[in-house]
Amino acid sequence: MTTSLLFESSTINGMNLANRFVRSATWEGMATEDGRVTPRLIDTMVELATGGVGLIISGHAYVTQSGQASPWQLGLYDDSLIDGLRSMTDAVHAAGGRIVAQLAHAGHFALEKAIGTPPVVASNFEGLAQTPRTELSVDDIQRLKNVYTEAARRAQTAGFDGIQLHSAHGYLFSQFLSPWFNRRTDEYGGTLDNRVRIHVETIRAIRKAVGSDWPLLVKLNCEDFAEGGLNVTDSISAAGQMVAAGLDAVELSGGLLTGGKLSPSRPNINKKEKEAYFKAAAQAFKRSLDVPLILVGGIRTLEVAEKLIDAGTADYFSMSRPLIREPNAGNPATELGRAACRTTCAFGPA
Ligand SMILES: Cc1cc2nc3c(=O)[nH]c(=O)nc-3n(C[C@H](O)[C@H](O)[C@H](O)COP(=O)(O)O)c2cc1C
Repeated sequence: MTTSLLFESSTINGMNLANRFVRSATWEGMATEDGRVTPRLIDTMVELATGGVGLIISGHAYVTQSGQASPWQLGLYDDSLIDGLRSMTDAVHAAGGRIVAQLAHAGHFALEKAIGTPPVVASNFEGLAQTPRTELSVDDIQRLKNVYTEAARRAQTAGFDGIQLHSAHGYLFSQFLSPWFNRRTDEYGGTLDNRVRIHVETIRAIRKAVGSDWPLLVKLNCEDFAEGGLNVTDSISAAGQMVAAGLDAVELSGGLLTGGKLSPSRPNINKKEKEAYFKAAAQAFKRSLDVPLILVGGIRTLEVAEKLIDAGTADYFSMSRPLIREPNAGNPATELGRAACRTTCAFGPA
């Protein structure tokens, strides 16, 4: 038996978690063309739950058709999807796991071929894209808040343990926070208070719809790592406002999909010093924020995770690529999982 904090159980707004490892949202490409759950997707989720990871966050699920980012992506845009999602959450729970749905709208990065209309954006300006974009009006933003709230209600009805708003990597909510993407001059652009308004209002609306005792998380860029983009100071203030609006936990990520070496999924994590590449930002977040912090980005060894939790840098550790390669790597609670972590995910090429 180990005494590490990593294997201590904990709760996030009533959601019991067996350890401090999280499967970060990862597009599986296993849904049907119209975003429905498939047996293969259920099997993958069950494998993760059986592997022992404390919390699974689903691959990004599009809240409305215009928000689809990838083919065979999970959807949460219609009530007819609920039964399939229920089969998936039931299977995860039967395997002893917990699962949160990631609610996403890709905005500028939507898959044009799939959505059939120009992608919607926080701001449209010269140089943003080579194909047409549609800037959201204030009325569109009001409708979008309802779209998110409906998607959250569906996730709750389908038996998810909570939801996570995707506000990282340049997706629509992350575009609103970013001064580079968001050049609006109305109440949803300009100052940080305005750029975070869509988050705050959406969180309040969702909280009202789902009740006080159901976990609401966000995946947030600590920085865009792009000139003129979101910086850590603003990201911390934004997170504070979201917490005041009813948010329960923050998963800290960073970078844009177009970010090259500084993108959210950085390559060549082949030394311990390269692991946990957002840890400096995490330290700053922990100094200011009073909710659990989940750290993602290049976490590969128990040793590093253990040091970070002992130092109070983060409360949970989220992994994507290691759990694609080795779903059992999320099971550090067993000796087998420890061995898997050391031998397969430690310093792999992923
Ligand atoms: C194949 C793949 C799919 C991903 N899909 C998502 C997603 O749906 N939502 C999301 O927030 N991040 C997504 N990410 C980013 C990861 O969740 C994570 O933030 C990033 O890969 C860094 O963690 P890692 O070093 O453990 O891979 C994806 C990454 C990969 C490699």
